Amino acid sequence: MNDDAFSNQVSPGDAPICVLGLGHIGLPTALGLAELGRRVIGADDDAAKVRLIRAGEPNFYEPGLTELLVKHLKSGRFEPLEDVAAAVRAGSIIFICVGTPQKANGQADLGQVEAVAQVVARNLNGYKLLIEKSTVPAITAQWLKRTIVRYSSGKPQPGDEPAHSSSAPAFDVASNPEFLREGKALEDFFHPNRVVCGVESDRAREILTKLYAPLNCPIVVTNTSTAELIKHAANAFLSMKISFINMVSDLCEKVGADVGAVARGIGLDNRIGPQFLDAGIGYGGYCFPKDLRAFIHLAEEHGVDFSLLQEVEHINQNRVERFVAKVRQALWNLGGKPLGLLGLAFKAGTDDIREAVSLKVIEALREEGCILRLYDPQAMPLTQRLIPPTDKIIYCTSPYEVAQGAHALLLLTEWEEFRGLDLARLRNLMEVPVLVDGRNLFDPDTIRQAGFEYFSMGRPDTKSAGLHSTPAQTK
Ligand code: UDX
Repeated sequence: MNDDAFSNQVSPGDAPICVLGLGHIGLPTALGLAELGRRVIGADDDAAKVRLIRAGEPNFYEPGLTELLVKHLKSGRFEPLEDVAAAVRAGSIIFICVGTPQKANGQADLGQVEAVAQVVARNLNGYKLLIEKSTVPAITAQWLKRTIVRYSSGKPQPGDEPAHSSSAPAFDVASNPEFLREGKALEDFFHPNRVVCGVESDRAREILTKLYAPLNCPIVVTNTSTAELIKHAANAFLSMKISFINMVSDLCEKVGADVGAVARGIGLDNRIGPQFLDAGIGYGGYCFPKDLRAFIHLAEEHGVDFSLLQEVEHINQNRVERFVAKVRQALWNLGGKPLGLLGLAFKAGTDDIREAVSLKVIEALREEGCILRLYDPQAMPLTQRLIPPTDKIIYCTSPYEVAQGAHALLLLTEWEEFRGLDLARLRNLMEVPVLVDGRNLFDPDTIRQAGFEYFSMGRPDTKSAGLHSTPAQTK
């Protein structure tokens, strides 16, 4: 993206934008805004993270992020700080991008969100637009307004104009949920299907619609609770699509149908669409599991029956058990057998292992007494920190080392590089040529022709009986 594309649409006098929290959402958002021509101050209270970012090294893998970070450290349009209060004082538009982890009861933990709101309240040195970017349950914006009034010295009122407000300057709160996919965060920032703006004043609406105008995409303007709920509903619907196809996948196995063909056959209906119909070992990651739980919890708080989503969660939780049962079906006894695991990240394109299904598979196989040989193109450092190497947990440097003496290869993450593996070489390295494909990454006939016993999710264990769509029809 070159500067000219956007920067001529920003009046030079615009105050810097402040982004609080420089994680998987905050850093791509900060750099995306810098690329749009805005001056951005990023702040995070994790000093080590800020030091890495200042050195041009994001503390997580995201395609294109390092290049954009280096570019805007150089252009001066992005400045990372440890001092959150200083960043707040410098900015007028303030994005909240801090974590909203899940509590034991499923509720979203909004402690970090309130903490930054208190910092804003104590640093109201001019009009502030406080924008929820992190995923928060509906009516959080109301709490943010209360918090700012409660903790600021001059008791300003939301939406007040400086002319008639009390001594303190005015502020607004807005909701602008992110829809970034890890591994595609910059693509999703610059080419969103839509931008959602939950606002409660004309001033906030004008600021946000002007900010996102360069993206030339539909902008949904609504109130804050609706915008907050859109985010939860979007993730819940996507999770439901995944659990739906996984539920159908289990039946496909019983009747000899091909779930890939079912997905193509229903996905060509433009009311359904082909995406998020990939059957496998289910969804993981920092978003879907916690957002679904938080959405269900919010509904329960208001006495609304969300049992449909509870079933979505239940189907997803069962995937690990079904996958391990498939491994047992392939190998009979598991104890003491070396198994090769290909992929650890919760999906391809990221090094993130939070809520990764692979971690649950590892736990189940360790209980069976297996020896596990692990490899992932990006997620090895984070996994090793969580699960240190032992004589039964062996971290390998390549898929071929994983295959050495293995009684089966288990495909857990759909990295593109696994698609191009030398099957003959893998087969010769293995003790037993069994491949259990948790993401239906491989073509069954190709794998079987290479001499493997091949097991996958929802596809016949014989020659594929599914619909062979012509290239024009493939998704
Ligand atoms: C998701 C939403 O897509 C994004 O809009 C939101 O902002 C954050 O949460 P992300 O969690 O990064 O993004 O990953 P996504 O690509 O949505 O995949 C989520 C999980 O679903 C992964 O574990 C993936 O393996 C799984 N998945 C996805 C399937 O099992 N089948 C599919 O068809 C698609």
